[in-house]
Amino acid sequence: MRLLVTGGAGYIGSVVASQLVAAGHDVVILDDLSTGHADAVPSGADFVRADLRAGAQQVLATGVDAVFHFAAKSLVAESVALPSLYWEHNLGCTLALLDAMRQEGVGRIVFSSTAATYGEPESVPIAETAPPRPTSPYGASKLAVDTALTEYARLHGIGAVSLRYFNVAGSHLESAGGRLGERHTTETHLIPNILAVALRGSGEISIFGNDYPTADGTCVRDYLHVSDLAAAHLLALAACEPGQHLVYNLGSGTGFSNSEVLAACREVTGLDIPSQMGPRRPGDPAVLIASSERISADLGWRAERGLRDMVADAWAFAQLMVTTP
Ligand code: UFG
Repeated sequence: MRLLVTGGAGYIGSVVASQLVAAGHDVVILDDLSTGHADAVPSGADFVRADLRAGAQQVLATGVDAVFHFAAKSLVAESVALPSLYWEHNLGCTLALLDAMRQEGVGRIVFSSTAATYGEPESVPIAETAPPRPTSPYGASKLAVDTALTEYARLHGIGAVSLRYFNVAGSHLESAGGRLGERHTTETHLIPNILAVALRGSGEISIFGNDYPTADGTCVRDYLHVSDLAAAHLLALAACEPGQHLVYNLGSGTGFSNSEVLAACREVTGLDIPSQMGPRRPGDPAVLIASSERISADLGWRAERGLRDMVADAWAFAQLMVTTP
C-alpha cells in the first residue's frame, strides 16, 4: 500500500514508518522538521519537507491508500502556556488534513492520540470507557481530534483508528541495523532525562514529588516499548473499516514508580546516577495505568518488551547519539 506518514521524522512516527517500510509498504513521510530529524527518515521511505497544511494535499494528490497522523505539538506545559498554538496545530491542521483526504478520496487514517485525553483518572487501570477529562490544552486538542474522527466516520464514511498512548520509551532497532529513538530538543520525559545525567556523568536527576499516594510516594506510570507501540499501528491499519472509528489504549497494564524507573536505569547502565527529590510537577496524576484489553481482544496486540528492555534500548540510543557525528 502507499501510505502517508505525517510527522514521520519524529520519535514515534519514524519507528512506525520504519516498520511499514519493512512490511513492504510504499511510505511517504511529510514532516516540517520543526521537532523531527531528517536522519530519522527510514531508508526506503520518500520524504517531503513541508508543513501539514502546505504538504498534505500535494502528497495525497499523488495517490495514497491511508494516512498515519503523528505530526503534532506534544509538550503538556507548553500547551498550558500557549493554548492557541496547540489548538491550531493539533486540531486545525488535522481538520485541514481530513478535508484534503476527503477531497482526494483517501478513506483511512490511524491517529496518534494520548492518555492525556483522560486526565486525572477516577480509577486504574484506565479503559477506553473512562470519561475523557483532559487537564491540558494538549490533551483537549487530541480529544477534539478523536471527536472529529468519530464525526468524519459517521458522516463521511472514513475508517479511523485512534491509538491512545501511555508512556512510550526505548528505541527501535531497524532491520537494516540502524536505531531510531527519542531526541527531543526540549526533553521532558523521565527515562531520557535520567539517561542524559548518566551520560554526562555530572548533575543529578530531579524526581518530581515523593508525597503521592503510591507505595514509595513517587508517581506511577505505564511504560511501553516504542517497537511494541509501532506494531499496534500496523494492526490498526488492517482494522480500519469504512464508517467506523475505533479507539484503543496502548500500554502494558503494569505500573512502575519513578523511583523504580530510576533503579532500572542504574541497573542497566551500571552507573550510580545521582538523584534528588524535587517538588511535584503541576498537573501530574499520581498513577496512570492502561487497560489495553480492548486492542488485545480485537486485534490480538500485546506488549512484549519490559521496562529493562526499554531502558537498555534507550541507553543504546543515547550512547549512539554521542558517538555519531
Ligand atoms: N519526571 C521526573 N523527572 C523528570 C521528568 C519526569 O520526576 O525529569 C516524572 C514526572 O513528574 C512523572 C513521570 O516522571 O511523574 C513521568 O513523566 P514523563 O514526562 O516522562 O511522562 P508523563 O507521564 O508526564 O507524560 C506522558 C506522555 C505525555 C502525555 C502524558 C499523559 O509523555 O505525552 O503522559 O499524562 F501527555
